[in-house]
Amino acid sequence: MATPRRACGGLLVLVLPCFLLHGAAAQPAGEAQLLLRIKRAWGDLPALAAWGGGAVAGAHCAWPYVRCDEPGGRVTELDLASLDARGPIPDAVGGLSSLTRLDVSNNYLVGGFSTALYRCASLRYLNLSQNYLGGELPADIGHGLGKNLTVLDMDGNEFNGTIPPSLSGLRSLRYLSLSSNHFAGTIPAELGELANLQTLYLAYNMFDTGRLPASFENLTKLTAVWVEQCNLVGDFPSYMVGMPELQILDLARNAFTGRIPAGIWSLKKLKLMYVYGNNLTGDMVVDDFSAMSLTAIDVSENKLTGIIPEGFGLLENLRLLSLFRNNFSGEIPVSIGRLPSLERLRLHSNRFSGTLPPELGKHSPGLILVEADDNELVGTIPEGLCDKGQFLSLTASRNRLDGSIPPGLANCSTLSYLKLDDNQLSGKVPERSFDLCSYRIIGWLGVFRRRCTSTLRRCT
Ligand SMILES: *[C@@H]1O[C@H](CO)[C@@H](O)[C@H](O)[C@H]1NC(C)=O
Ligand SMILES: *[C@@H]1O[C@H](CO)[C@@H](O)[C@H](O)[C@H]1NC(C)=O
Ligand SMILES: *[C@@H]1O[C@H](CO)[C@@H](O)[C@H](O)[C@H]1NC(C)=O
Ligand SMILES: *[C@@H]1O[C@H](CO)[C@@H](O)[C@H](O)[C@H]1NC(C)=O
Ligand SMILES: *[C@@H]1O[C@H](CO)[C@@H](O)[C@H](O)[C@H]1NC(C)=O
Ligand SMILES: *[C@@H]1O[C@H](CO)[C@@H](O)[C@H](O)[C@H]1NC(C)=O
Ligand SMILES: *[C@@H]1O[C@H](CO)[C@@H](O)[C@H](O)[C@H]1NC(C)=O
Repeated sequence: MATPRRACGGLLVLVLPCFLLHGAAAQPAGEAQLLLRIKRAWGDLPALAAWGGGAVAGAHCAWPYVRCDEPGGRVTELDLASLDARGPIPDAVGGLSSLTRLDVSNNYLVGGFSTALYRCASLRYLNLSQNYLGGELPADIGHGLGKNLTVLDMDGNEFNGTIPPSLSGLRSLRYLSLSSNHFAGTIPAELGELANLQTLYLAYNMFDTGRLPASFENLTKLTAVWVEQCNLVGDFPSYMVGMPELQILDLARNAFTGRIPAGIWSLKKLKLMYVYGNNLTGDMVVDDFSAMSLTAIDVSENKLTGIIPEGFGLLENLRLLSLFRNNFSGEIPVSIGRLPSLERLRLHSNRFSGTLPPELGKHSPGLILVEADDNELVGTIPEGLCDKGQFLSLTASRNRLDGSIPPGLANCSTLSYLKLDDNQLSGKVPERSFDLCSYRIIGWLGVFRRRCTSTLRRCT
């Protein structure tokens, strides 16, 4: 706590005149004027029509989207999200020296990052996300913004240049989002000094090919990491097994290599595990499976091998299991067919053998999708896929499935996509199925083509 003050020393000189102009006035009327200047800067924004009017001192505290520390006092919060505001961040904001919360997200703001915000030294929450702000962030941003800043959300803008290392000066930061911008260069190692960080979103930037800094090892309070499509290379960041609070891990669409460390499956709070679209290899080894909070596992489009860990079949909250386009083999655990929350099971383009879990659908009220194409599956189509009446799509082309289409699937009124070509299915195409032709059944049963040409023509 003492350090930030010293670091702030230089800034204080700059800040003082502003205190004298607006603060010393201590008249809330001064703040009303500032609010009106904000309104004007945005072309007398209709959403702020109620701002203004009567000259009663302190009346501005009752204006919409404004909050004060006390009635007629100083403005502490401005919630100006989604008001169709157009223009730059108004300089007048900087005069609101007691501001702790500023939300101008989801507007049409343009121009650069405003250093006027440096004057709001008490700022704790700053949300600039979903705007058209651009240019480079000032190099001194981490020294300029108030040391109490805990949330800095700049997601979805057009900021470019490199991420300023000085951001590491914002030691109170718990939430930092720079995702969906045009940042280039590499991710500064200094961000690893933000020891209180819980949420770190850097996804969708045009970084140079690089690694996640080793210093991120120290971010042990992280609950959410989102670095999708950041041009990252190197081994899976194995230090993440030492982040016990982790709930969301999204490393998707990079070029990570190496193995998924066994310890990942021991993170008790982990809910989302997205590592799809990398170059990960090896088996999914599990030592102590205790990631029982998982709701989604997506490791598709890698080069993973081996079997599906038995532990996956115990995940009561698992809604998505996506393993497609890898080199998995072995049998699909029967327990997968009993997952009570399963909605989507994507297994295609692997080397799975054995049968589809026979009970699939019977215990999963939300099951809508099963993809099993391009495997080495045998046996019959599970009879209960549509038992709970939600099921939408089954594709299992190019396997060695036999038997016939189970009646419960044939009469499934929600089914809109069924693709089973290149199997060894037999039997009749149930009448009910043909009724569904008009309901958009696409890629219909190539296997029956020889037998049912005339009937199929009705479908086209
Ligand atoms: C920032 O604003 C956006 C859009 O209004 C919102 O979705 C997001 O949750 C906010 N960020 C934080 C950290 O509150
Ligand atoms: C920062 O937060 C501390 C603790 O809540 C508070 O005492 C201090 O006044 C705040 N600093 C500023 C500049 O608001
Ligand atoms: C960054 O954005 C600004 C403003 O949009 C633009 O003028 C500048 O050329 C951009 N710089 C880079 C390196 O893209
Ligand atoms: C983690 O933090 C410690 C203490 O600040 C530091 O000595 C160490 O170098 C940091 N680790 C990495 C990998 O940067
Ligand atoms: C994976 O590696 C192959 C060959 O080394 C490369 O061609 C491919 O682009 C890589 N894929 C990803 C997603 O990095
Ligand atoms: C999958 O694994 C098998 C056995 O290890 C190997 O022969 C094959 O080349 C692998 N296929 C791919 C696409 O990597
Ligand atoms: C669908 O078929 C199953 C199994 O034959 C049967 O139990 C169920 O009553 C049928 N439902 C409808 C709506 O026809």
